[in-house]
Amino acid sequence: MDHFRYEGGVLQVDRVAVPAIVRAAGSPCYIYSAATLRLHHDRIAEAFAALRPRICFAVKACGNLEVLRTLVERGAGADIVSLGELHRARLAGCDPARCVFAGAGKSDAEIEAAITAGVGWFNIESEQEFDVVAAIAGRMGRPARAALRVNPDVDPGTHRYTATGVRETKFGVDIDRARRFFADRGRDPRCRLEGIHLHIGSPVYDVGAYEAALGRTLALVAELEREPGVRIGMLDLGGGFGADYETGRSPAAADYARVIVPMLADRVAGGLQVILEPGRTIAANAGILVVRCLYTKRGGRRKFVICDGGMNVLMRPSHYGAFHFAWPVQVGAEHVPPVRRERLELPGLERCDLVGPICESGDFLAEGRDLPPVSRGDLVAVFGAGAYGMSMANRYNAVPLPAEVLVDGDVARLVRRRETLDDLTRHEQDPADLSIGPDGPEPLVSPAIAASQGAPA
Ligand code: LLP
Repeated sequence: MDHFRYEGGVLQVDRVAVPAIVRAAGSPCYIYSAATLRLHHDRIAEAFAALRPRICFAVKACGNLEVLRTLVERGAGADIVSLGELHRARLAGCDPARCVFAGAGKSDAEIEAAITAGVGWFNIESEQEFDVVAAIAGRMGRPARAALRVNPDVDPGTHRYTATGVRETKFGVDIDRARRFFADRGRDPRCRLEGIHLHIGSPVYDVGAYEAALGRTLALVAELEREPGVRIGMLDLGGGFGADYETGRSPAAADYARVIVPMLADRVAGGLQVILEPGRTIAANAGILVVRCLYTKRGGRRKFVICDGGMNVLMRPSHYGAFHFAWPVQVGAEHVPPVRRERLELPGLERCDLVGPICESGDFLAEGRDLPPVSRGDLVAVFGAGAYGMSMANRYNAVPLPAEVLVDGDVARLVRRRETLDDLTRHEQDPADLSIGPDGPEPLVSPAIAASQGAPA
């Protein structure tokens, strides 16, 4: 369920017509629905209510400040993986104490800044990272709180670029190493290791994969807690819940909860805090990308609909082979899509490749898709683009980033203006001499790196 639907053959977002938005904001543009963001947030909150979870929205999915603010006002915290995402979360009104900081490559500067800000949890990905966090926290006299990211070695059945819970990834440590980790580092007062984090992949449509991963993790928790003084106070299940890229594709929040809640209910009654880090399942179907057809042409037996945005504005199709339903914004009554599916049995469709302006043959939004007639000037909506759309957009071919619009009821607001040519070159306008000569500056080594390499900090 979302708030994007055709009325009289014209696509509406909440109560605003898409063509009117594009007349004001231009194309390509992302359009988000506040009501859908709230709906999907609340569905998770309700489904998992028995666990009283903290829902930390994965900022990487969609970092727009007004989108974040909409969710923070709903009670969400934030899952961050960089100082930039912490910055975004704070500007959106999120208390750093309600942030979890994950990511396999946190820099010393980021760790220090996160401790200064009072980030709630560090989700630790390796032994070395733990030691650096502990060293920095010790030096600052500000003990940090950490969860160990474990890698339960469960295949989530997703694209290999987004499968994170199998043994051979850069994320987390496997269960055997986790035992050693707690034995060696579980009593460090500078960084209190009190939680377990897992995130097996994204999107994970197989509810059973969560069951398997959680089962292995809980067995580990029980084992760890047999050691005197070890207590796991927090379990962060990560994100990864599916989204309806096609109608009815994903299990509902309640389906995931039906498996997960009973496995954790007793522990929550005993004081365990549960954190969830959903991104896609909240944001994907709360946003569309709108592009305009510039040209149509034939190439051999293929028909190309060449649009003003492609892999630069939405990388997912070309990067992961991801499916996004795409459909013209204005259609005749016979072409109102009854559902969003790869193949629709409607009259008068024509097989097309929806491609962008970027100079690569891999630049496409949809390949081999049966579409109603599309002509130069028509708008096409790409659905399910609210997660990992704008946040992965880039300026390849020196095309400025698109605008973002947030619709709430009958009000549409420009929440990020389209970039200008000046924005493109802003950081290149003032070349500066770095003054690197034979007697140039010593290489900078942070105190924490020096300490971990054996030098006095
Ligand atoms: N927590 C952690 C530790 C993560 O690594 C991720 C996503 C999430 C939470 C949120 O996952 P979600 O609920 O959104 O599935 N760019 C890819 C997705 C990469 C996901 C990376 N990590 C895509 O467009 O499909």
